[in-house]
Amino acid sequence: MGERYDEVGELASFAGTVATAERDPVVVIAGCGAGATIEGLREHDVAAYGFDTSRSALDAMDEATREWAIEADLRDDDLVASLREAFGIDGIDVFVTECVLSFLTVEEATDALAGIRDTDGVGVLAHRVRIDPPIAAQNGDIDATVLPPAKWQAACDPADADIWRDGLEQWKLPPSGTDPADET
Ligand SMILES: C[S@@+](CC[C@H](N)C(=O)[O-])C[C@H]1O[C@@H](n2cnc3c(N)ncnc32)[C@H](O)[C@@H]1O
Repeated sequence: MGERYDEVGELASFAGTVATAERDPVVVIAGCGAGATIEGLREHDVAAYGFDTSRSALDAMDEATREWAIEADLRDDDLVASLREAFGIDGIDVFVTECVLSFLTVEEATDALAGIRDTDGVGVLAHRVRIDPPIAAQNGDIDATVLPPAKWQAACDPADADIWRDGLEQWKLPPSGTDPADET
């Protein structure tokens, strides 16, 4: 039997290659849900934080994880400043959108990501997008934007600055020293 793929371990290793400061790598998870990735990253010595719009998702977190997450919206104008203040952090090495972009329109995502990308001290943006509609959209409760990663990238990141992946596939993150924008 093959070894089980360790997606959090891969993200943690990547964050270690991106971080240049003399501290643990800092990763923020947007749309963190109940915080599984935050917990996993912390087991790999990553200073992981997250945010989500859902109070019930945040309330479902382990008590220990709750201090690493806040209620916030990816579309907030002052998002990075709020994260810095809430968590007492400065640099963010990797900013991950974790299966959350489908809750936004393309225009909302484009604006939000441009603002984050242009903020000093924010390193690499990495996105996992789901190509199946969220449950809430399947139930007709929300309108979802369901696009494959290449279409999200073309719409929101024409300069190809970020990393874009299908949320159901492996990260396959660029190796140490590789500029994510140069990956083939
Ligand atoms: C499909 S779930 C993914 C949860 C978790 N990241 C995972 O991969 O298992 C999407 C999450 O994004 C959150 N969300 C939706 N819109 C958001 C927004 N504008 N800003 C932040 N979080 C949002 C939802 O509350 C939900 O927890």
